[in-house]
Amino acid sequence: SMVAGFAPTLIAWQREHGRHDLPWQNTRDAYRVWLSEIMLQQTQVSTVIPYYARFLERFPTVAALAAAPIDDVMSLWAGLGYYSRARNLHRCAQAVVEQHGGEFPISAERLAELPGIGRSTAAAIAAFSFGVRETILDGNVKRVLARVFGIEGFPGEKKIENAMWLLAESLLPPVGDVGMDAYTQGLMDLGATLCTRGRPDCARCPFAAHCVANATGRQRELPAARPR
Ligand code: ADE
Repeated sequence: SMVAGFAPTLIAWQREHGRHDLPWQNTRDAYRVWLSEIMLQQTQVSTVIPYYARFLERFPTVAALAAAPIDDVMSLWAGLGYYSRARNLHRCAQAVVEQHGGEFPISAERLAELPGIGRSTAAAIAAFSFGVRETILDGNVKRVLARVFGIEGFPGEKKIENAMWLLAESLLPPVGDVGMDAYTQGLMDLGATLCTRGRPDCARCPFAAHCVANATGRQRELPAARPR
């Protein structure tokens, strides 16, 4: 299988074929990274872009967001949906100011203690902002892992999800690697641009020669659907 070669292959592919010019890339400002990751949780990139720009214009820092009335935050969020994200966003900004002196914590474990930041979002913020070696595991990454490694079972099931977290951790670049941002963005880009749910573009995939789903023609069966 592809365990040892996974990270270097993904990093090389991301640098050559991945996305590099999204508005929240090319910054190490954890506030900007965090804001983008919360907006992108249930919303597509093209929808998020104008909201992200308006938010940063009105609230350029986490302190500005924390000090704003909740009604201002909700007005700027209107149209993005999943409004608990906006309430948690405001609570999180206040926690960063009141409990962390206005600086986001560096570790994924501390980030995940903040309102609205789950384990995978915490890892994304830590990797993009600080180069911390932690793995993301969102729906797109679960699909990539299920296909490349032939993981059977419904990824929404706790036992399967736990196995995927362990596999994802085993795939990380080695300690000391400087490519955590390219690696993390590569996981997102592969799932979003090639290893899609409907019609994966295996001809362009850097893992095609090592992928269980591609070798067995089971792209449509992996990951397994919710049992019913
Ligand atoms: N979806 C979630 N995080 C993302 C990111 N950093 N870039 C593009 N799409 C994403």
